[in-house]
Amino acid sequence: MKAIVNVNRHWGIGREGDLLTVIPEDMKFFRKATAAKIVIMGRKTLDSFPGMKPLPGRVNLVLTSDPERIKPASREASDAFFPDIASESSRQRLDELTRRVLDSPQLKASERPTVLASARRIEDVLDFCSSYQEDDIYVIGGASIYKKMLPYCTSCLVTVNDCEILPDTWFPNLDATDGWKHSVKGEEKEYEGIHYRFDTYVKA
Ligand SMILES: NC(=O)c1ccc[n+]([C@@H]2O[C@H](COP(=O)([O-])OP(=O)(O)OC[C@H]3O[C@@H](n4cnc5c(N)ncnc54)[C@H](OP(=O)(O)O)[C@@H]3O)[C@@H](O)[C@H]2O)c1
Repeated sequence: MKAIVNVNRHWGIGREGDLLTVIPEDMKFFRKATAAKIVIMGRKTLDSFPGMKPLPGRVNLVLTSDPERIKPASREASDAFFPDIASESSRQRLDELTRRVLDSPQLKASERPTVLASARRIEDVLDFCSSYQEDDIYVIGGASIYKKMLPYCTSCLVTVNDCEILPDTWFPNLDATDGWKHSVKGEEKEYEGIHYRFDTYVKA
């Protein structure tokens, strides 16, 4: 699986439950990379989405200690909600819908099912993901999930920006993490005074 993240120069990723900065080209890059994929996130990241809606046309796997914490707004915005991915009784239907999402990248997001499923344990996420190709799975945050899932990622798509807002949440510093190699350094770009580039790190 891959992680996809937007960090500042100090690996900061958020403040007070929100992103540090929104760069339209980065949003577009994120939408394109994760279209028709499985996206893994923490419950607080789901809550941070506009209207608390899961990402459309994707399989949204949300880690929470209690599925009741997934808000009605999130459930209602999905075509199917699975409160526990470890449940045998719903697994077949979840797999069917996941295949439909993964097999239809040519469709618009609104034409694919929006699936929401929750997991209480990282092990349950890994068990579910073991049935799918690693290129189809993206870890999308936030800080607690990046940290816990990084050992299972083989590459990270990292948008680096020079936003100066003081963060309160961080991604692990891959330049200082054994076993990771900075493989692509993108060209410098600029949006409303913020400089950014699209980098890639891979497991060495
Ligand atoms: N820059 C970026 O690319 C990016 C991307 C995503 C998010 N963010 C930012 O990151 C921040 C949110 O990060 P965060 O760390 O505070 O929250 P988070 O990782 O999104 O969610 C944390 C929640 O996930 C659940 N959780 C975590 N580990 C679990 C486990 N092992 N088993 C079961 N549930 C588990 C818990 O939910 P319960 O409390 O329900 O039990 C926990 O409270 C926000 O500021 C957001 O904007 C930035």
